[in-house]
Amino acid sequence: MNKVCHKSPSNIAIVKYWGKHGNQLPNNPSISFTLSKCHTETSIKFCESDCYKSNFFFEGKENAAFKLKIDKFFQSVTNDFPFLNNIELEIESRNSFPHSSGIASSASSMSALVLCLLDIERTIKADSHPIDLQRASYYARLASGSASRSVFPKMALWGLMPTVQGSSDEYAVSIEDIIHPVFKTYHDTILIVSSKEKSVSSRAGHALMDTHPQAQARYAQARENTQRLLTTLKLGDIEDFIKITEDEALTLHHLMETSTPPFVLMEENTKKIINKIRRFRQDTKIPLCFTLDAGPNVHCLFPQNCQKEVDDFIINELKQYCHNGTFISDSVE
Ligand code: PMV
Repeated sequence: MNKVCHKSPSNIAIVKYWGKHGNQLPNNPSISFTLSKCHTETSIKFCESDCYKSNFFFEGKENAAFKLKIDKFFQSVTNDFPFLNNIELEIESRNSFPHSSGIASSASSMSALVLCLLDIERTIKADSHPIDLQRASYYARLASGSASRSVFPKMALWGLMPTVQGSSDEYAVSIEDIIHPVFKTYHDTILIVSSKEKSVSSRAGHALMDTHPQAQARYAQARENTQRLLTTLKLGDIEDFIKITEDEALTLHHLMETSTPPFVLMEENTKKIINKIRRFRQDTKIPLCFTLDAGPNVHCLFPQNCQKEVDDFIINELKQYCHNGTFISDSVE
């Protein structure tokens, strides 16, 4: 048996992707930080076979739900990867972050899976070129939208923006070269308010936007915020970065809370943390801000040069609101 192995990080969106159409195409562009500590490592052993066969082990244990998701994805791309019709796969995957931490793992797991798939193709074709990251992003997008952005380090843009050459709804592009150095030093400390499974899957969540009365206004706002954020990132304008970041996080939750059916994913402690962060910023002028994913956990974003003050603040003031005092210190680098 041959073997390929890839590690891929999670990412946190600043401008959020929420709403899609067609075959995993976004209804608005999004921009994210690529994290470094929170990642998935996937290895695949493979050999030729009379048909497609797979086994899947997550952290050492067979996992039927994940296997089904992977099988479905591989079946959907067999036209592009015909060798999948005659292959036996033994897939092993593990996350660097606890499974019960409430952190969505689809971005890191699906991008790691796609990198393995492209590496299997390279091996079979005896192709010595490095993996084409744009192509990896394209297939990662088909597996899970936000996974398209995890392929690129530091920061990525997914979705067509007329002002960014090469940008596309079909894959993400790196924006590392157009951001001010301060954003390459950003930290993301993830406060685990709850470790429960998400009460709305992202598939169901995106579908809620199809009938949302504010959908069109939201897509226009997201396009505007993406354009504004691109300028902000270029200039190193942290004040404006904070405004856009927090506005996007609260908009995402507002959209969920006003969907049919509605979902309230913030918990009391989420709100307490948000208020404390805003008060801390006002009192100290330290540029700490927050963002949220589709869940109650709070991502604390700040540049490297205020790490000491923010770490102390988190330990002394915010840790008490975390489930079992749990938080994960991650960063862009
Ligand atoms: O990639 P999906 O389908 O799991 O959707 C992710 C949606 C959000 O995490 C809420 C926002 C984003 O852009 O990552």
